[in-house]
Amino acid sequence: MNILLTGGAGYIGSHTCAALVEAGLVPVILDNFSNSHPAVLERLQQITGQAVACEKGDVLDTAWVRQVLERRQIGAVLHFAGDKAVGESVAQPLKYYRNNIGGAVSLLEAMQATSCRTLVFSSSATVYGDPASVPITEDFARRHTNPYGHTKLVIEDILSALQVADASWRLGVLRYFNPVGAHPSGLIGEDPSGIPNNLMPFVTQVAIGKRPFLNVYGTDYPTPDGTGVRDYIHVQDLAEGHVAALKALLDKKESFTVNLGTGHGNSVLEVVKAFEAASGRPVPFQAAPRRPGDVAQCYADPALARRLLGWRATRSLDDMCRDAWRWQSGNPEGYK
Ligand code: NAD
Ligand code: UD1
Repeated sequence: MNILLTGGAGYIGSHTCAALVEAGLVPVILDNFSNSHPAVLERLQQITGQAVACEKGDVLDTAWVRQVLERRQIGAVLHFAGDKAVGESVAQPLKYYRNNIGGAVSLLEAMQATSCRTLVFSSSATVYGDPASVPITEDFARRHTNPYGHTKLVIEDILSALQVADASWRLGVLRYFNPVGAHPSGLIGEDPSGIPNNLMPFVTQVAIGKRPFLNVYGTDYPTPDGTGVRDYIHVQDLAEGHVAALKALLDKKESFTVNLGTGHGNSVLEVVKAFEAASGRPVPFQAAPRRPGDVAQCYADPALARRLLGWRATRSLDDMCRDAWRWQSGNPEGYK
């Protein structure tokens, strides 16, 4: 079956693309390359041993997306396309409402105009805001703390409304925790533009000497070592989670919303230590004030994904660090 991956040239989409080929499905990438590099396509060809189809264009262009769905005979869509920088969303909220919410509506309209009714959506643990407790189950209250998070929440609500209006939709909402790491080949990985916002890409850039030290944002949280605790999940596990989600929708034909996480939290200092061990490089750091909007602890209860999808994360923090380092050290300038 042909599967459309909007935003498929990006970090999570590219890893999922490789996992789909491995599962015997046929990916078609749709991307405007606003936050990715066309070189990823050659890398995917090296990994999968076959050319990966790509449609260059914007998901906001409804008529064109509809045409792609029909011409490529798409059976299901994985919707990754969107903007994801929290700080930027605070500074430029309209960019986020237009691209993320507008993009989702455009895609859904295009799908509605065809017979394709199966969609997997990239949501985020950000929809839990500052959770009342951990681990987090899917029935926890949802709230947003920034425009980026708001777009995820609104898109989830749009999908629910669509399901009410038309029961033939098959919708899988995946709430990712903290995806890190890279494909074990070292050929694809996370390639942030500018200064990385997230911990792991910042750590890898310190290790390679691009940045002098890591700021540890907050050392006085109510956690065992005082630094923030997150549920880091290997991007390969996440990619396999998408394959499982797609298969569940196609087999069982019931919609669902699930957490994709490991169920374990690690602190910033634990990540630094694990990365130093995996890379053999020192990662100098200094204590810095808490980052506005950060929470002390956030990790998933992944039991529902296991029950519904038969999926669970199997890779360790050491695997994540080792693979992130292989990608960074082999590609110091990313895809450029
Ligand atoms: P990414 O930026 O690497 O990938 C997104 C891709 O979408 C890019 O290739 C970009 O060029 C493309 N894109 C953006 N707007 C587009 C448009 N209008 N038309 C066509 N293509 C467009 O991001 P990622 O980390 O791979 O994240 C993928 C999805 O997962 C996003 O929706 C993100 O919000 C969500 N998510 C990511 C994380 C994370 O930590 N990376 C966590 C939770 C959720
Ligand atoms: C961030 C976003 C969240 C988004 C997620 C995607 C914010 C406030 N939250 O989450 O909405 O869904 O990315 O993966 O941006 N840290 C440092 N130094 C750094 C960078 C991070 O100490 O230079 C710490 C943070 O304080 C946090 C941990 O590392 O405790 C992880 O941070 P990060 O990778 O940015 O992810 P989140 O904050 O979980």
